[in-house]
This record gives sequence, C-alpha cells and structure tokens, in this order.
Amino acid sequence: MLPRELISAAAIATRVGALAREIDHKLPPGPLTVVGVLRGAFIFMSDLVRAIPREMTCDFLGVRSYGDATVSSGVVEITSDLSAPIAGRHVLLVEDIADTGLTLRYLLDLLHARGPASVHTCVLLAKSTLEEGPVKVDFVGFEAPDAFVVGYGLDAAQLYRNLPFVGVVEK
Ligand code: IMP
Ligand code: MG
Repeated sequence: MLPRELISAAAIATRVGALAREIDHKLPPGPLTVVGVLRGAFIFMSDLVRAIPREMTCDFLGVRSYGDATVSSGVVEITSDLSAPIAGRHVLLVEDIADTGLTLRYLLDLLHARGPASVHTCVLLAKSTLEEGPVKVDFVGFEAPDAFVVGYGLDAAQLYRNLPFVGVVEK
C-alpha cells in the first residue's frame, strides 16, 4: 500500500529553497563542506546543495544505527567515513530526520574532534521529542508528526525512499 501523503513534493521544494537561502545568509564565509548522512539524507541534500549558490565540497557519512530500526540508541556505526579531512572547514551536517537527537549528538562529537572551523546542522524533519534532546539543530525544514514517516529519502525497512513526498505508512 502506498503511504498517505503528509507533505507534498511542492511544499518540500518551497521549504528547501527557503532553507537554502537561510543557510547561505547565516553560515560564515569561507571553505564549506556539506556532509550528508547516508542513506536518508541523499535526496534532501541533493536538492538543498543545488539551491545554495556558493563554493562547496560535498561529502558523506554512512551510518547504521544499532538495534531496533525504529528506536534510536544513539550509538551508531560508521559504515563509510568522510573522504577528506574537515580541519579548518565550515561543515554543514545534513540529516533526514531528528527524533531523540542522539544520532546527531554522536555525529557532531565525531566531527568536532576533527578540528573544523564550525559545524552547523540541518534536518528536513524534526520530531517534538528533539526539544528535550541533547542537541539544538540550527536549520529545520518541518516539524514532523508524531508518527513514523517515509519518503523523500526516508525509509521504513529500506522501502519508500524514492517517494517524491513525505508520508506515513498506514497500519
Ligand atoms: P534519533 O537518533 O532518535 O534522532 O533518530 C534519528 C534517526 O532515526 C534518523 O537518522 C532516521 O534514520 C531514524 N528515524 C527516526 N524517526 C524516523 C521516521 O519517522 N522515519 C524514518 N526514519 C526515522
Ligand atoms: Mg537516518
């Protein structure tokens, strides 16, 4: 069954354009590396970087959460590391969704240890649980509903990443 649409492709496109302008205004000038978290961020990041009109490099971190796929433990395994050092660079970390914020906290600590000039975070979706979490995200696309969402890169057991909209799988 096709997931029920919550955020349309058109609404996503409008919001991603606005986010990109906000990011371009707020990020300090200087060398920028945009780091996408695989695999969930691949579609969001590809739209986002094309709307940020500045010189940048793009890199990726492959991560896998330990344990249950729908509940974060905050302990992630790096399955694929960055391809280049980030020392002295401004980093924008791009994630699909933050729930508890534990995954982002772990990745931020990992990046900070490598001596970047700055690290900012951007997520397409943030759940309300993030407010009590260990990280304050700099750029948020949409507040996520209290449900497991899929599409536009986000998966449920690896399915639905290719949907052009964000939706929810009906039970
Ligand atoms: P956190 O560590 O609790 O913030 O969880 C973040 C990670 O859990 C994300 O990178 C997603 O892979 C996954 N996740 C959390 N909520 C959802 C959801 O509603 N749909 C798809 N993946 C989710
Ligand atoms: Mg993810």
